[in-house]
Amino acid sequence: MKILVVGGGGREHAIIMKLAESKRTTELFCAPGNGGISRYAKCFDVKATDIEGMVKLAKELQPDLVVVAPDDPLVLGMVDAMQAEGFMTFGPKANAAIIEGSKIFSKDLMKKYGIPTGGYEVFTDSESAIAYIKKQNTYPTVIKADGLALGKGVILAQNEEEAVAAVREMIDEHKFGESSARIVIEEFLTGPEVSVLSFTDGKTVVPMISSMDHKRALDGDQGLNTGGMGTIAPNPYYTDEIAAQCMETIFKPTIAAMQQEGRPFTGCLYFGLMLTPNGPKVIEYNCRFGDPETQVVLPLLDTDLVDIMEATYRGNLDTLHVQWKQESAACVVMASGGYPVKYESGKAISGLDEKGQVSGAFVYHAGTKYADGAFLTAGGRVLGVTATAETLEAALAKSYKAVETISWDQVHYRHDIGQRALQAKQG
Ligand code: AMP
Ligand code: GLY
Repeated sequence: MKILVVGGGGREHAIIMKLAESKRTTELFCAPGNGGISRYAKCFDVKATDIEGMVKLAKELQPDLVVVAPDDPLVLGMVDAMQAEGFMTFGPKANAAIIEGSKIFSKDLMKKYGIPTGGYEVFTDSESAIAYIKKQNTYPTVIKADGLALGKGVILAQNEEEAVAAVREMIDEHKFGESSARIVIEEFLTGPEVSVLSFTDGKTVVPMISSMDHKRALDGDQGLNTGGMGTIAPNPYYTDEIAAQCMETIFKPTIAAMQQEGRPFTGCLYFGLMLTPNGPKVIEYNCRFGDPETQVVLPLLDTDLVDIMEATYRGNLDTLHVQWKQESAACVVMASGGYPVKYESGKAISGLDEKGQVSGAFVYHAGTKYADGAFLTAGGRVLGVTATAETLEAALAKSYKAVETISWDQVHYRHDIGQRALQAKQG
């Protein structure tokens, strides 16, 4: 099969390297891709959000499968547009991608179907929102823009001043444009966070191995929020008992709810969960693979990814037995110094072979360029260095050993990825 993957980050590189393992794959294309991806797939300079341009590219390439990986093209309806031209696709249609595209939609869905999540209210004018905040007078409180906001639409306000400022920026100052014209004010929840990605064909849901993200920029969970500085899988807080509970109270009810609403979800549905003292609750849904969760989850997959993707499209996922390696994986993100605020690009990366790899690890490129046989940095998050092993300790050791062989001017990474997970295991 010829496969076109839409996107150009570490997540897409991990998807492509997994697809490359399939006996059914004959040719891989990616748009826009990146330097590392270009060593595995033919890359085309079409923006992931350019629906028309991507359909045109697909018509030229005639792929047997189109995998739409990022959130914005999914929410904009790229899958619908590809299907209208007769392409087999992996990913939800726009009417289902709204589960990530609108926080109000997802909160209302959970309320209607009794799926556990934090309490909330919706506001469209700042005066009522501020009056509500003052009346509640409980902090921290959580303020979320309704629509997509490049992962920056969530504010955990520690006091009234911060909460009021967030409301004014979002609604009155249009910080995220239309995305923050409506907001959700949500109850602050506590507990360990777990990411559970799942495959679904709209009827059957197959959870993948659980994972844990590390969102803050600096060691010890200090510094600013980022797209994710590292991940481990499986997540030790996510016991078999909790997994069984989530299946009955969250996963199956969500898939059934979407079907009931006439919006069957197919593709990868990501459950962002918090294990609160009152049981697991949904923090957010994403309509796609997580980044950098995918970089630790897919290397542990034992079943052919092409078979799974085809089954989500054809609606026969129940006939597949999806299997996982009984191992652990760790991914350490190597970023440009200064990320997530201000950083320089175009730095020469040393330590990579001609495929952009090092021995003993999978190097997933998030932001690189390939020119004249060398790799240059081209983004905030540059590489995700993943290793798998029998234990989490061993996977972390392998991953950090590989990280130490790669460098560039002002490289930055966290030194404590997985430490909390190791402590949880011991405790
Ligand atoms: P999101 O953009 O929805 O992934 O939110 C970003 C992060 O904010 C989450 O990963 C949580 O750490 C935190 N968060 C979101 N909602 C809540 C909540 N209701 N209570 C506590 N933390 C939250
Ligand atoms: N790592 C979180 C996300 O992909 O949204």
